[in-house]
Amino acid sequence: MSARSIDAERLLARLVRLGEVGRDDDGRLIRLAASDADKMARDLVSSWMEEAGLDIIVDRIGNVFGKWSVGDADAAPIMLGSHIDTVVNAGIYDGPYGILAALEVVTALRPVRHDLKRPIIVGAFTNEEGARYAPDMMGSLVYAGGLDLDRALATIGTDGTVLGEELARIGYAGTAAPGFVTPHAYIELHIEQGPVLESEGIAIGSVENLQGISWQKVKIEGTANHAGTTPIALRRDAGHAAARVITFLRDLMDSNSPGGVATVGSIAFEPDIINVVPGRATFTVDLRDPVESRLRDHERALAAFLDDLASQGFAVTVETLTRFEPVIFDQGLCALIDEAARERGLSVRRMTSGAGHDAQMMARICPSAMIFIPSRDGISHNPREHSDPDQIAAGADVLLDVVAKLATQ
Ligand code: HGY
Ligand code: MN
Ligand code: MN
Repeated sequence: MSARSIDAERLLARLVRLGEVGRDDDGRLIRLAASDADKMARDLVSSWMEEAGLDIIVDRIGNVFGKWSVGDADAAPIMLGSHIDTVVNAGIYDGPYGILAALEVVTALRPVRHDLKRPIIVGAFTNEEGARYAPDMMGSLVYAGGLDLDRALATIGTDGTVLGEELARIGYAGTAAPGFVTPHAYIELHIEQGPVLESEGIAIGSVENLQGISWQKVKIEGTANHAGTTPIALRRDAGHAAARVITFLRDLMDSNSPGGVATVGSIAFEPDIINVVPGRATFTVDLRDPVESRLRDHERALAAFLDDLASQGFAVTVETLTRFEPVIFDQGLCALIDEAARERGLSVRRMTSGAGHDAQMMARICPSAMIFIPSRDGISHNPREHSDPDQIAAGADVLLDVVAKLATQ
C-alpha cells in the first residue's frame, strides 16, 4: 500500500477556519465546553466528518465520533481523536489539530480502503479542558469508565450551569452509550505545548508517558477588616495567606529538580474591595509530576502548609477537583511512531507529556499513544500558540503512516 501524504493545504485552512469559531468582541478565542461557541464548532467539525464519508455517532456525554465502516465490521476499530473545546483566550491548534488531521488521514486512505482491515473512528471528546466543568478530560474519562455518566452530567460549572442541561441545550446530548466500542488502539496527534522539541530541533515526539495531575480548590477564611485602621499584627488577612501559599508552592517546585510543577491559575478575594483586608481567598492549585510518589509528596507538603495556616487562626477548606495518576502509553505504538517518523526522514524522540490529554483516559481501555509536533517558544493556552505549516503536515503524515500500519494488521 502506497504511503500517501495528507492534504496539508486543506488541513491548515480548516485549522484557521475552526479557529475563528468562538471569538469574543476582543478577538479572544473562547470555546468552553457545551457553550454556544462549542456548539458551532461541533456543528462545523461534524459537517467535515460527513464530508469525509464518516457516520456521526454522539454519545450521552456529548462525545462526537465519525465512524468509517471500512474493513472487517467485527474488528475493533482504530480510534483517533482529541478535543474541540478550549481554555479562555486560546490558540487554534490545541485539540482541533488532532481531529482535523485525523479527517485528513481518513481521506488520504480512501483510495486504499480495500487494504484496510479495521474500521477507523475519529472522536471529538467533550470537555477536555475542564475550564468550565471539572474535571478535565471529562468526556474521555466517562467513555473509559472512569467517571459515572450521571455524575458527570450533573456537574455544576464555574458559571453555575449544569453540564447535562447545557449539552441538551446545544443539541449534543447524544444517545450512544459512552464506551460503546473498545478500540484496537487509540492515537492522538497534538502540539507539544512545551519547549522540548523546538529546543532540541526534533520534528516528532513519540509520547510514552504523561504526568499525574492533582487539581484542588482551596478556601482560606480570615477576617475582613478596615485597610487603614487594622494594625498588621492584628490582621487575619486571607489575601496574604493565599500569597504565602503561592510562594510556598513555587519554592517547593524550585527545590524539586527535575520534577513537578505547581500552578495557582485562578484566585478570588472577598469582598474584593481596595480598602478592605480580604476576609476570604478562594484559589485553585494544579500540581503535576510524572512520578506518582513525588506527586503525593507535593500534595502532602501543601497539606502541611495549609495545616500550619489553620494553626495561625485561618479556617482552611480544601476540595479535590481532579486527581489522575501518571500514565504509561503503549510501547508498541510508540515504536510504530518512531518507525513512521524515521521512514519519513523526520527526527523523533521519546518524551513525556506535561499536559493532560484524552489519550491518558483511553489508555485505561486500549493501547494508546500520542504524537507531538513542536510548539513555537513552547507556548500554548495562549493566542501566540503556533506550529509551522511543515510541522503540522509532518505530524499528520506520521499519523497517516501509523494508522495505515495499524489498520492493515
Ligand atoms: O490541563 C491540561 O493539561 C489539559 O490542557 N486539559
Ligand atoms: Mn489539548
Ligand atoms: Mn489544552
